Amino acid sequence: MQNQLQKLKQETFLAIKSVKDKVDLEELENKILGRKSGELTNLMKGLKDLSIDARKAVGQMANEVKVAVEEAFETKKIELSSLDWNEALQKEKIDTTQPALPVLEQGHLHPITTTHRDLEDLFTSMGFMVLDGPELESTYYAFETLNIPATSPAREGMDTFYIKDHHDWCMRPHTSPVQVRAMQKYGAPLRTVVTGRCFRNEATDGSHDHTFYQMEGLVVDKNISIANLVAVMKELLQGILKKEVEVRLRPGHFDFVEPGFELDMKCLVCGGVGCGACKHSGWVETLPCGLVHPEVIKAGGLDPNEWTGFAFGLGSMRLCMQKYGIDDIRLLHSGDLRFLKQF
Ligand code: PHE
Repeated sequence: MQNQLQKLKQETFLAIKSVKDKVDLEELENKILGRKSGELTNLMKGLKDLSIDARKAVGQMANEVKVAVEEAFETKKIELSSLDWNEALQKEKIDTTQPALPVLEQGHLHPITTTHRDLEDLFTSMGFMVLDGPELESTYYAFETLNIPATSPAREGMDTFYIKDHHDWCMRPHTSPVQVRAMQKYGAPLRTVVTGRCFRNEATDGSHDHTFYQMEGLVVDKNISIANLVAVMKELLQGILKKEVEVRLRPGHFDFVEPGFELDMKCLVCGGVGCGACKHSGWVETLPCGLVHPEVIKAGGLDPNEWTGFAFGLGSMRLCMQKYGIDDIRLLHSGDLRFLKQF
């Protein structure tokens, strides 16, 4: 039996060596090791007929033969599959001279992004730094530091979304909280703009959305006047709209500026005669602004006797609408490709 085992081993090794593909190898494996009638399996079945001593010696040898044969099969399997792999690699060639496929459709920036980038470029060229602020804001920065205490009626006009069980945290209703954050961080003199998302508890219509964009502007320096404010506002509008614009100031109330204004621009659609775009008044409300309130300068850690400033809050979605002639604010958040592909 020992001889038979050795012979089978030799023969199997030779057979494995000459096998060329996986199917033949599987067949051979079955022929030798198959559970029911594999040649080695059958030989091993004969062990039970031997005497106890012989069974011990031959059994050990049979096991060794079995392990060696199994290993030989495994090695051959790996060899064959790496051959497959090589073959695939041989076939798979990259033709580096083949011309590239044409790009059929390419995305582009959203009109809001373009508007913000244009605004940021314009203000950077005037020496402003571009800052950022958190969308989830404390009521301390969103209101208190801006001279809007909990009892102020101004809070109602800026009602927003509060965090459940943490009512001193809200989604910022404007970008103005960055005014005080910026003064605290950078001191004075200071020139900065902040573009970003704002939120209000608002029923939506063609010109209001619960989520919208603003650009805040803040200048803190010595002897800042309303003339400085108007000059920068004109530069802003002309720089973005690329047209000569006429502006006017009306009084406006915001707790964090004194005096406060609404800056209107002469309607670009009708030239001031009156049309649908300007509610037939000839003027379009564009920019709330004013001189920074001394309380806000103080909250920023500066001395209001030494430092003055102006601030403005531009509804950048509205400006974007004016620029591109968009008549419904909701389109800007719609993600509607029929709309977006026009830009
Ligand atoms: N934050 C104000 C608003 O959202 C706008 C504003 C900013 C007014 C700066 C004056 C100065 O309504």
